[in-house]
Amino acid sequence: MVGPGTGIAPFRSFWQEKLAMSKKEPQGELLLLFGCRTKEMDLYHDEKEYMRRKEILTLLPLALSREPKIKKSYVQDRLLENDHAQHVFDLIVRKRGHFYVCGDCTMAEAVSKVLRTVFQNIGHMTPEEADEYFLHMQDDGRYHEDIFGITLRAAEVHSKTHESAKTQIEQQN
Ligand SMILES: NC(=O)c1ccc[n+]([C@@H]2O[C@H](COP(=O)([O-])OP(=O)(O)OC[C@H]3O[C@@H](n4cnc5c(N)ncnc54)[C@H](OP(=O)(O)O)[C@@H]3O)[C@@H](O)[C@H]2O)c1
Repeated sequence: MVGPGTGIAPFRSFWQEKLAMSKKEPQGELLLLFGCRTKEMDLYHDEKEYMRRKEILTLLPLALSREPKIKKSYVQDRLLENDHAQHVFDLIVRKRGHFYVCGDCTMAEAVSKVLRTVFQNIGHMTPEEADEYFLHMQDDGRYHEDIFGITLRAAEVHSKTHESAKTQIEQQN
């Protein structure tokens, strides 16, 4: 699960579900990659720590973008770091896990590119093989995106539709 900032929201239900289900049957690993501006903005910190202690959640280190004296990093930078890349590769490729991204669309695009780089670096895939594996994941329903920040684009399309309708009406008259 990759969900910086408010993108973390849907994932709370994932670990709550896992906690509830783990009393009934063994559950797979749940790994979270979270990022925020400063340490103070580490949303649901206590809840995540509780889940980590209960072995419900694996937490990768925070990606902090505006914490004084700490090098700026984004979730996609964390994903590319060697140990994390290996871990994610094992879960996704070897164990055929699911990959979830939630948050801003620019971040999601960057994450999807970096994931393909992980396939190349760890799985020794060519760029074409990495793209193909990524497409297979999408076809298999193992790559999930819940993204926002595309309202402007939608509005542009919307206004273009209005513009073209207006032109057509004007031409008809
Ligand atoms: N007024 C405030 O103090 C305040 C605080 C938080 C959020 N907000 C607003 O609340 C809304 C939602 O906030 P949010 O918590 O979801 O987001 P956010 O706090 O703006 O962003 C979450 C994290 O994602 C990073 N990020 C930005 N662009 C990225 C990219 N292309 N790839 C990967 N990571 C990227 C941010 O880094 P950067 O530091 O580079 O942005 C930050 O570390 C936004 O409109 C935001 O502006 C306001």
